[in-house]
Amino acid sequence: MDIQRQRKLFDRQASKYEMRVRKRGRDHQWRKRLLLSAKGNILEVSVGAGTNFSYYPQGASITAVDFSPAMLEKAREAALEENIQVEFILGNVEALELPEHSFDTVVSTLSMCAYPNPDHVLRLLSKWCRNDGQILLLEHGLSTNRFLSRLQKAFDPVYKKRIGCHLNRDIMGLIEDAPVIVQREEHAVFGAVHLIWAKPQS
Ligand SMILES: C[S@@+](CC[C@H](N)C(=O)[O-])C[C@H]1O[C@@H](n2cnc3c(N)ncnc32)[C@H](O)[C@@H]1O
Repeated sequence: MDIQRQRKLFDRQASKYEMRVRKRGRDHQWRKRLLLSAKGNILEVSVGAGTNFSYYPQGASITAVDFSPAMLEKAREAALEENIQVEFILGNVEALELPEHSFDTVVSTLSMCAYPNPDHVLRLLSKWCRNDGQILLLEHGLSTNRFLSRLQKAFDPVYKKRIGCHLNRDIMGLIEDAPVIVQREEHAVFGAVHLIWAKPQS
């Protein structure tokens, strides 16, 4: 799928994501736990409608990227509601150029499912993070449960076409191959959801 089509798919889902900001489902418990560690100069890639904003510490300096103008509009509203300062960048994370080692915390939640090259994005996250900084990830992927993983594989093509995300990413495999050092990890939903606290490999 070309990037323009994928961007439009996400544009159309912006209102759904805005509702998720308010509807405090199970993902909010994961976000809260993970983002308790966020501090300093924070970069969030593929920010969506700004669901994570309420978990950042007061006074944090936040830079947020997304390629969907409709998502960024919702994220702008969320930032106003939370009364936090965010610098927004409209752009494709895979092609983004940011200063190396310039962020204390780099955050990605539910975005590795979307990129054509998640391995490249993980390398970028490591590059943009300060050597003594942290990379915080909440990602979903292929379950360790055989039955669920079969379903995920079967539904992956249609899900990708309609929603814009893959269901069958090997998230822990990608992280193992990435230039990051995992410091803490938690897994949920039959090994399909991963909370990762990592630092860049220097
Ligand atoms: C599944 S949503 C997750 C949104 C948000 N991170 C969250 O936790 O709710 C994926 C987001 O990634 C964005 N996205 C996907 N591919 C992207 C890319 N290559 N560059 C920038 N944003 C991208 C989409 O527009 C969408 O907002």
